[in-house]
Amino acid sequence: MNPMILDGKATSKKIKDELKEKVSMLAQKGIVPTLAVVIVGDDPASHVYVRNKKRACEYIGIKSLSYELTSQASEDDVLSLVEELNSNPDVNGILVQLPLPSHISEEKVIMTIDPKKDVDGFHPISVGNLSIGNPGFVSCTPYGIIELLKRYDIPISGKKCVIVGRSNIVGKPIAMLLLREHGTVTLCHSRTADLKKECREADILIAAIGRPKMITDEYVKEGVVVVDVGINRLEDNSLCGDVDYEKVAPLASYITPVPGGVGPMTIAMLMTNVVESAEVK
Ligand code: GUN
Repeated sequence: MNPMILDGKATSKKIKDELKEKVSMLAQKGIVPTLAVVIVGDDPASHVYVRNKKRACEYIGIKSLSYELTSQASEDDVLSLVEELNSNPDVNGILVQLPLPSHISEEKVIMTIDPKKDVDGFHPISVGNLSIGNPGFVSCTPYGIIELLKRYDIPISGKKCVIVGRSNIVGKPIAMLLLREHGTVTLCHSRTADLKKECREADILIAAIGRPKMITDEYVKEGVVVVDVGINRLEDNSLCGDVDYEKVAPLASYITPVPGGVGPMTIAMLMTNVVESAEVK
């Protein structure tokens, strides 16, 4: 069987084009959605991510404000910057790129972001709202996964959804979102007794482990929908997911590629959150 490819790149482009349209409507009302991006230190991967986010802003017509602090910046420096951005009425969204240098508490910084501007959806208030089904910002990777499934008309209601990986950024929030869509959710992790057995039950399998090619054909049943959240760099510098694509794809009905699957959706949903924040202001 040849699976349908869940094309995150094309879907992300479509979402960005829809947002571009929305932003031009907002401009007629004198509203310019604005994202403040804070980066501390010189982690090369973080700088690449931030550059991509700023590029997406530019494409859509979102104004991005850039705050680049050196790794010598103190925790207080970062906290006061966030507070200043909280009280700036022109700023709709605040993104502090993680990881932060070890002398700065990520928790404290996230807790300081005004939940009304928490476009990353990392604040405990955002997480709490998601858990009880209240409106609020949803973190971008899980939000992107749901959006990708919806845009391919993949039904979630009543389906067995198995997630591997229980991180705060992906595993836990995607569990909440799939539950909100009436999926039957199993959240697996490193202590799960029989992981292969759990995974083989899945109609929808979400791999968010961070281990290259861990999910092989032994972990899936025929017809499964596979979403691969992993981005792992191999020794030859190539990228691969948590799913062994060559082995799993022939069994799947739908599958995300890496790269070009979940990754681009994350940025599209960040942009969606920023525009929404400007709309509801
Ligand atoms: N670092 C890696 N992914 C993310 C993300 O989605 N948001 C932020 N702020 N930092 C990250």
